[in-house]
Amino acid sequence: MRRYSRITGTGSYLPPRRLTNADLVDELGQRGIETSDEWIVERTGIRARHFAAPDVTCSDMGVEAARNALQAAGLDPTDIDLIIVATSTPDMVFPSAACILQNKLGANGCPAFDVQAVCSGFIYALTVADSMIQSGAARRALVVGSEVFSRILDFNDRTTCVLFGDGAGAVVLEASDTPGILSSDLHADGKHVDILCVPGNVSGGQVLGDPLLKMDGQAVFKLAVGLLEKAAHAVLAKAGLQESDIDWLIPHQANIRIMQGTARKLKLPMDKVVVTVDQHGNTSAASIPLALDHAVRTGQVQPGQTLLLEGVGGGFTWGAVLLKL
Ligand code: ACO
Repeated sequence: MRRYSRITGTGSYLPPRRLTNADLVDELGQRGIETSDEWIVERTGIRARHFAAPDVTCSDMGVEAARNALQAAGLDPTDIDLIIVATSTPDMVFPSAACILQNKLGANGCPAFDVQAVCSGFIYALTVADSMIQSGAARRALVVGSEVFSRILDFNDRTTCVLFGDGAGAVVLEASDTPGILSSDLHADGKHVDILCVPGNVSGGQVLGDPLLKMDGQAVFKLAVGLLEKAAHAVLAKAGLQESDIDWLIPHQANIRIMQGTARKLKLPMDKVVVTVDQHGNTSAASIPLALDHAVRTGQVQPGQTLLLEGVGGGFTWGAVLLKL
């Protein structure tokens, strides 16, 4: 009998400090940076975001999301035999955020590693966990997306600092006789490194190069919709399903206009799209599991429904996962 993987619990965590656009406009104004609620809402759909306190790390938020997901799945930390954390803002250069999170959780001993695919990170991590479960290498995986993008934002660059927020989301993925994950599709094209990057690195005890986020927003925008459409059609074809079989699209929450463009291409009305970008901003690898958990806990998505998760981000990386909840 074929072995599948299935999501059995979801969880999330948002740091308590919430900044509305008005709060951010005020803070940026004190630095002489001009922006407005109208501009941010019209161009991005974002109305608020959460920022972590200075001493809160990726693993701190990830472990809260993980505990919530474990509770929803009715499992203890020691039941877990694989931990993957998707992040581009880990606690330290090494060890991985996954190892630190594992110790905080008390799931010591199982394999734990980070996946770095920026905003596609959760899609990559979920696909790796699914493959390991299908192969028999794992039985109960914890897949976490956690980001503190506020640490790598240039608050003197209004074209990027208004877009991002902090947070974490997690799922428990368990072996099952029935799907679960129906299909997935991952891609990367490294020729687009420069349009979205944090070019700095640590060397000889110093940070070399600029350690803050750089983005060519229009170039990203142009690539994103086409790539997301291709990934969506690829997972549907692999699973032998049609666009009309999708109950919910849960895209990476970067910009409402990218989400609207993707939905249009897939002939999905916006009331089949889970939208949290308005309240969370772009939380990179955390955005999809945060949106999924929100949709599960509010009853928006229901067990048995078909969900299309997809993301695009720095690298360039992109991908999709089609699953039955
Ligand atoms: N407030 C006010 N004005 C602004 C701001 C701001 N925060 N930022 C830019 N502007 C101004 C610009 O200076 C420009 O002014 P000008 O016409 O006088 O030169 C004007 O607004 C238009 O700027 P554009 O860059 O053309 O605005 P655009 O409509 O392209 O919107 C945006 C910019 C929101 C960044 C858009 O390009 C976008 O969403 N791109 C995709 C970004 C994205 O989603 N990235 C994440 C995906 S991958 C990942 O998640 C890591």
